Amino acid sequence: MAKVKHILIVVGTRPNFIKVTQFKKIASKYFSHLTITILHTGQHFDDNMSKVFFDQFNLHPDVFLNAESGRPASQIASIIQKLDAYVAGNRPDIILSPGDVNSTLATSIVANKNSIPLGHIESGLRSEDLGMPEEHNRILADNLANHLFVTEPSGLNNIANEELAGKVHYVGNTMIDTMVAFQNEIDEAAYYNSLGLKSQDYILLTMHRPATVDNEKGVLFVKSLITEMLQKRDVVFPAHPRTINKMKEFGVFEELKGLKGLHFLPPLGYFQFQNLVKNAFCCVTDSGGIQEETTFAQVPCLTLRPNTERPITIEKGTNTLLSNDVALVINYLDSIANGSYKKGEIPELWDGKATRRILEALA
Ligand code: UD1
Ligand code: UDP
Repeated sequence: MAKVKHILIVVGTRPNFIKVTQFKKIASKYFSHLTITILHTGQHFDDNMSKVFFDQFNLHPDVFLNAESGRPASQIASIIQKLDAYVAGNRPDIILSPGDVNSTLATSIVANKNSIPLGHIESGLRSEDLGMPEEHNRILADNLANHLFVTEPSGLNNIANEELAGKVHYVGNTMIDTMVAFQNEIDEAAYYNSLGLKSQDYILLTMHRPATVDNEKGVLFVKSLITEMLQKRDVVFPAHPRTINKMKEFGVFEELKGLKGLHFLPPLGYFQFQNLVKNAFCCVTDSGGIQEETTFAQVPCLTLRPNTERPITIEKGTNTLLSNDVALVINYLDSIANGSYKKGEIPELWDGKATRRILEALA
């Protein structure tokens, strides 16, 4: 590969923003010959899903594409068209894209069609669940990538099994780099205090996967889960826009808003949310990234999904996969309360230095 001087990083969604916060900082400190451009596709667009993160991280996108929202294929097509036009006039030496979202897939196709080398950050993760839109995005991005940046050993195995052509770099987790870099801001947010809560005394809930919230059965399950968990502790529920829309559609939004002990909130800024993670009794979630963040924070995490693409969080970390069974969740909450739940260890290379390893590999 020719010497890399200009790196274009493409992001589009909340978890993407959180995975790229250290690139400019590390480049200016250790790799001053590198120019880094951050491009935001516009996939997530509400202030509390987008602007808040760039403000908190003091990292404003250099380019904003304002891609179309809505039906997935149209969204991907819109990103492809706009990104293709952008790189035609501003050709980088390499494009980096994190994660498994529609912006990641669109970016991979644009890189490939323009013969620009592609680096996939968070490569090799597989849930083996083709019902998830993200699983297709991961597989396609990895097949098109020239550099595969891996966060955990399962990624290495999956890449080997699939005989992928890209160069493998086992670098660790850039999402953890962000947690490490902003420890002070996270502590200073003291957000749980401002909700009138005590540390270790509330359950933090997030739910946004289509498999859970895009159908009435799933939304009613979340409602009964909340009702039962409230018998044990206060519940803090910062809800994703998809979830809020679906709760309104299936008629449970107003009812939930009135529940005593439920802190039903809009999506939160990173410092506030991480402050809640760090002080939680437990997190209950269907998120990808929160499984990793709770493992790093060593906070119990109950993931309500049939599978995970992040098995290290179960093997080493504080995560447990559970089915959508309220009684089972309550049993686990009891085991956390009586001290019998596992404590967990931090996976190797989740040390705050993954971004530096990625830049070292390229520079
Ligand atoms: C996307 C990712 C998912 C990731 C999640 C992180 C894909 C296929 N899915 O899901 O892997 O876990 O982001 O949060 O890329 N909406 C708003 N405002 C926003 C963003 C979304 O109102 O700022 C609403 C819109 O109605 C939109 C819907 O949410 O149509 C879904 O948004 P979309 O980006 O397509 O998928 P997510 O569910 O956010
Ligand atoms: N997050 C946040 N505010 C919230 C909920 C989540 O800042 O109200 C952060 C969280 O710390 C993690 C990321 O968003 O870094 C996870 O995003 P999400 O669960 O939406 O996506 P996934 O990881 O499932 O793709």
